[in-house]
Amino acid sequence: MNHYLNDPYLDSMNFLNEACIKYPEAISFGSGRPVEEFFHLENTVDGVKRYAEIRRIDPNFLGQYNMTKGIINDFVAKLVKNDENIDISPDDIIITDGAQEGMAILIDTLFDKNDVLLVTDPSYVGFIGYAKIAGIDIRVVKRNDTGIDFDDLQRVIDTIIKEGRNIAAMYEVPDFQNPTGISLPLNERKELIELADKYDFYIIEDSPYGYYCYESEKIPSMKALDTKKRVIYIGSTSKTVFPSLRIGYLLVDQEIKTDGRTVKLSEECKKVKSFITVNTSAVLQAMFGAILYDNNFTLKKYCADKVGYCKQNRDVLADIIEKEFDFCDNWHKPAGGYFTTVKIPFDPTNDLVVEAIEKYGVIVCPMSMFCIDPENGKNMIRLSFSHMTIDEIKTGMARMKNWITDVSNR
Ligand SMILES: Cc1ncc(COP(=O)(O)O)c(C=O)c1O
Repeated sequence: MNHYLNDPYLDSMNFLNEACIKYPEAISFGSGRPVEEFFHLENTVDGVKRYAEIRRIDPNFLGQYNMTKGIINDFVAKLVKNDENIDISPDDIIITDGAQEGMAILIDTLFDKNDVLLVTDPSYVGFIGYAKIAGIDIRVVKRNDTGIDFDDLQRVIDTIIKEGRNIAAMYEVPDFQNPTGISLPLNERKELIELADKYDFYIIEDSPYGYYCYESEKIPSMKALDTKKRVIYIGSTSKTVFPSLRIGYLLVDQEIKTDGRTVKLSEECKKVKSFITVNTSAVLQAMFGAILYDNNFTLKKYCADKVGYCKQNRDVLADIIEKEFDFCDNWHKPAGGYFTTVKIPFDPTNDLVVEAIEKYGVIVCPMSMFCIDPENGKNMIRLSFSHMTIDEIKTGMARMKNWITDVSNR
């Protein structure tokens, strides 16, 4: 048995996915789910036939094993050019089973025995969880109110170099990060690319929330800023279409030296993918392909209703926090995405979270669930506001306030 599975950190994904199903009466600020009303499932399923028409192929072709890198790579290349200003050849794209498979492929492809992974703490559990299962040496960099603590990053890099180890990659969610809701400012994105170039490591940019931008213009993605081929990009359709589509995309246009040979990273990722999922379901790719074609290879308009819904929720939540949660000093309103975090007067232990659910009817996530070093999440909770009505936000926040007040007064 893989002994890394004994790490309690690895229970967090199941808690997030199952808490709201286990406790249907409780109002959930737990997992980051999109709202079903915007899924348009029937239209999306009809997209299979539509795709066959667009490509002039027999629909039965979509029932067959297919290309390992994918069949809609040219459509995705147009999408990221239009929406993110990223230039990439279809051959450097890999269509994956959700972003999660892209993460697994990258971890299995990029890391050798002497290699180290850099992550900011807290970070997204999906990536860290798989890196832990794979036994990767993970080094934690502190976050601050704007993004990355660059002094700490430099200190961590120096330590790794002194140990004679190699930094293979740093994982980061620059847009409306999960769990903090913070976006990396433009100057920090550029600085990180410079550092990656100087110390010869890759940046794995994971961006499922980029479309959920509630203020002026979105900051350019790191992949669009990257002239040095340092950035590998992971895309997801879970928040743009719906999560059970399980379609993601890796943008990997790098070349790597290995055993004296220079190889295309996309070919190495393809090798790994062929032994994980063989290929991503062509039926599901066809559904996404039809959406892309019929929306002129941009998802901005297609996502506008979902984004508007979440923005309204963010505004209602922010209003309540600013007016009624006076213990939350130094709170930042998130400029996009699904999440915010609040500091509360005590550390939300597992027992207290269960009490919040069973006695007060509200599900919250302790920030320590997302932390490798639990100290980095002390006295913090993450609130997801994506999957709620305005009434649920108001009632849920009132319940949460009662829980916080009662526990604080004990
Ligand atoms: C940062 C981040 N990356 C990726 C994902 C999931 O992507 P997928 O459903 O495509 O595997 C999530 C979902 O919560 C996320 O927050």
